[in-house]
Amino acid sequence: MSRLALGTMTFGVETPEADAHAQLDAFVEAGGTLIDTADVYGDGASERILGRWLADRRHDHVLVATKGRFAPPPGSRGASRRSLVRSLDASLDRLGVDAVDVYFVHGWDEDTPVEETLDALSAEARKGKLHSIGWSNVTGWQLARIMTTARLGGYVVPTVVQPQYNLLDRSIEVEVLPCALEEGLAITPWSPLGGGWLTGKYARDERPTGATRLGEDPDRGVEAYDTRNTEATWRVLEVVSAVAKRHDRTMAQVAVAWLLSRPGVASVLLGARTPVQLSDVLASTSLSLTEADLAALGQASAPGLPAYPYGMLEAFSAMTVWDHLGTAGDTAG
Ligand SMILES: NC(=O)c1ccc[n+]([C@@H]2O[C@H](COP(=O)([O-])OP(=O)(O)OC[C@H]3O[C@@H](n4cnc5c(N)ncnc54)[C@H](OP(=O)(O)O)[C@@H]3O)[C@@H](O)[C@H]2O)c1
Repeated sequence: MSRLALGTMTFGVETPEADAHAQLDAFVEAGGTLIDTADVYGDGASERILGRWLADRRHDHVLVATKGRFAPPPGSRGASRRSLVRSLDASLDRLGVDAVDVYFVHGWDEDTPVEETLDALSAEARKGKLHSIGWSNVTGWQLARIMTTARLGGYVVPTVVQPQYNLLDRSIEVEVLPCALEEGLAITPWSPLGGGWLTGKYARDERPTGATRLGEDPDRGVEAYDTRNTEATWRVLEVVSAVAKRHDRTMAQVAVAWLLSRPGVASVLLGARTPVQLSDVLASTSLSLTEADLAALGQASAPGLPAYPYGMLEAFSAMTVWDHLGTAGDTAG
């Protein structure tokens, strides 16, 4: 897959079809190969718009990923067999293809045994309807459970994980990222710009208005204005802005270039309302951040580990075996 992927969540919602097709054309022209959609984007409109583009252009080298779980057909739930088998069929129909390259389970489903989900997806893989699978929006233990069950049960083994990851939210570094590295999973982070925040378009003392994501809905999703308008956010934005100025680049390019430098990140999912926004972020691959840039960005955005058990484990790993066991007469537990 290409290091930058094209997300299509805006297609048919903020982005009309002609602009969506212009984004797709520009993306493949820039060497992009991975395109990410989902059954729920625009209630199926994103997959339909992508399907019409695929039918017209016939790009054999393009990889298509879609997702199921949050729009279960009537009479089904979550990531159950009945839900995913029907959702996949509906996605293939809207996309106008026989198979997708990656089928993502869009989030953990506490009501369905993971064996059932994996068994259903394995059967679809054998029928040739999907080439590989991935999971999105899971915790570390859930990801480990999925991987262990897949390996030990002889099911199709996931190859990719799709979490939120950006300079304003590095919480996957605590559990999900180490698990992905341990398992050899490719990471394709969503929301590289924190929903637009990392472009510097929002202000500290002014609720957003106008044709931006939060201008249209300040309470939207993880990027909601009141949730992200914090000192921690402004600390990060200040450093992103300084690095951007130093390189004469946009803040968006700095945010994406930082993600590209992170371990395990295979392909960053870009999202754009307009072709101009897309061409801005596509230029991120030509930005080389220096060690000093990375250190400043890393320091400003560090997630900070909870003291227990992480701090304690970190202290253990710095100790020698004798420190662990204690010296003669030392009864410390
Ligand atoms: N698995 C999941 O649960 C999940 C969840 C979310 C997204 N995704 C995937 O990840 C993709 C990207 O996520 P995202 O849309 O949240 O990414 P993002 O990069 O954090 O935010 C994209 C938004 O930022 C603004 N923007 C983008 N480029 C800009 C630029 N150069 N200058 C100024 N503003 C710019 C646009 O919003 P405005 O112009 O409207 O402000 C755009 O819609 C999605 O398309 C989807 O494929 C997956």
